[in-house]
Amino acid sequence: MTAGTFPDVDVLFSSSDLAGAPTGSRLPHAPDEPTLCALYAHPPAPTGRSAFVRASMISTIDGASWGADERSGSINSQADYRVFRVLRALSDIVLVGAGTARAEGYPPLTVPRGLAGARAAAGRSPRLPTAVVTRGGHLPESMTGTGSDEHPYVVTSELGRTRLPTTVPADRVVVCGDDQVDLGAALEGLAERGFTRVLCEGGPTLLGSMLEADLVDDLCLTTSPHVLGGDAARPVVNADGFTGRPQARLGHLLHADGVLLARWVIRQTTPAPVV
Ligand SMILES: NC(=O)c1ccc[n+]([C@@H]2O[C@H](COP(=O)([O-])OP(=O)(O)OC[C@H]3O[C@@H](n4cnc5c(N)ncnc54)[C@H](OP(=O)(O)O)[C@@H]3O)[C@@H](O)[C@H]2O)c1
Repeated sequence: MTAGTFPDVDVLFSSSDLAGAPTGSRLPHAPDEPTLCALYAHPPAPTGRSAFVRASMISTIDGASWGADERSGSINSQADYRVFRVLRALSDIVLVGAGTARAEGYPPLTVPRGLAGARAAAGRSPRLPTAVVTRGGHLPESMTGTGSDEHPYVVTSELGRTRLPTTVPADRVVVCGDDQVDLGAALEGLAERGFTRVLCEGGPTLLGSMLEADLVDDLCLTTSPHVLGGDAARPVVNADGFTGRPQARLGHLLHADGVLLARWVIRQTTPAPVV
């Protein structure tokens, strides 16, 4: 999706007065989005952990995480894109499952237009790299056809490494686990490379695995005003289900054009500093 006219955003609820966006306020679009950047400040890794992981997903009212075209593009909107741009700009790296990379044809990412200054002010590097998780090793051409500078990091296991195309540069491969990918070790591997603010853009299978391993700190979940029926997956796929998980806490809830944008605090850590 590309930038068009971005709608005003209403703050329906905010637990953070520090962000300058109290409950009841309205946020008109600004090119460098200072208030949204404060509201969505991406915290550093909590003590004892290698990353602060923020997940970003969209769902229809009835829980579908993709539309008729089997992509999420058909259920998102300018309202969602306005926030999505800020999430990317404030992260060190975007983590994505290979299924999403294949379905959406993930290209090398660039910092969203207008947000380079906000990104620099938040201390992030000028580049926005991607990391793709795969065990099968089948990556889309949009990723493998890139120059080595732009090539995504490939998070895989020892077994998965043997299946990767030979074009993947060795310094872009993060091996964690023998057969299955150990996602906790993957975050450590990314942290060793300087990436500690991770934005996980799904998809549902990867997010299910991340939640199962208790690696997700907050979840930015957009609800789009569609009812689609059908058999699209929910935003979290996990066959066994989770037990004993504490309730999430609502960080804030925004509204624009009938779209609801929630930030759910999944793990209780220190409050996000304002950037
Ligand atoms: N609504 C939204 O916000 C949203 C966001 C993202 C994607 N989507 C949609 O979701 C659909 C794709 O769904 P999906 O569940 O297949 O996506 P996915 O989670 O991105 O991809 C699943 C694949 O990623 C790799 N993977 C994920 N978790 C892994 C783990 N723990 N260990 C090893 N490999 C792992 C595997 O790749 P290999 O098969 O290569 O081993 C697996 O087959 C697309 O239609 C996309 O448009 C929606």
